[in-house]
Amino acid sequence: MIKKIAASILSADFGRISEEVKAVETAGADWIHIDVMDGHFVPNITVGPRVVEAIRKATSLPLDVHLMIEKPQRYLEEFAAAGADWLTIHAEATLHIHRAIQKIRELGAKAGIALNPATPLGFVQNILSDLDMILVMTVNPGFGGQEFIRSMLPKVRECRKLIDQSRADVLLEVDGGVHPDTIGDLADAGADVFVSGSAIFHDHDSDYLKSIGQLKAACCF
Ligand code: DX5
Ligand code: ZN
Repeated sequence: MIKKIAASILSADFGRISEEVKAVETAGADWIHIDVMDGHFVPNITVGPRVVEAIRKATSLPLDVHLMIEKPQRYLEEFAAAGADWLTIHAEATLHIHRAIQKIRELGAKAGIALNPATPLGFVQNILSDLDMILVMTVNPGFGGQEFIRSMLPKVRECRKLIDQSRADVLLEVDGGVHPDTIGDLADAGADVFVSGSAIFHDHDSDYLKSIGQLKAACCF
């Protein structure tokens, strides 16, 4: 399995978002991760489909759209039309997870389910074959720059086992506190896709080639 770095634009300079996206693409990011927050599911508010559309024009990299919104089924069409390749919804955000992931696939996008730190893997174990990705949150969703919750490592390991035993074609993504000093343990635990925001964009004048290179080196690409 080829490991991937998904650069989270939450920590980028929003006034120059197209340039930021192009810069991380040039620096070796594999995916662009876009955090959509509604001020209800999480306390923070970020961007909607219009911004996804603008980012779509700036890059050819896959757009990995992480919906931290209540009742995400209301907005799936709009995000798919805006150019999202991956649409990940939270298991806690709708009573009808399975219906929502079917809808995502009907729209031609890849379907992911995100699990908050306290949400058990049991939420996804019966629907693995209908999924393209499981996102194990390694911080509580809502903000960049939070401390990695180390006690999530056993959950990542367990999730890896679940996917391997089922032989389903499902990627395992981790999001939150991914830094050069945590990414190695996450890679050992079996993650495939590593979302990283502040470790890449911490200083907007910084060298993204260097920050992405450090992440890649630390997880033995
Ligand atoms: C948090 C978001 C993350 C965030 C990660 O709710 O889902 O994608 O950008 O930020 P870092 O990498 O700074 O922990
Ligand atoms: Zn995210």
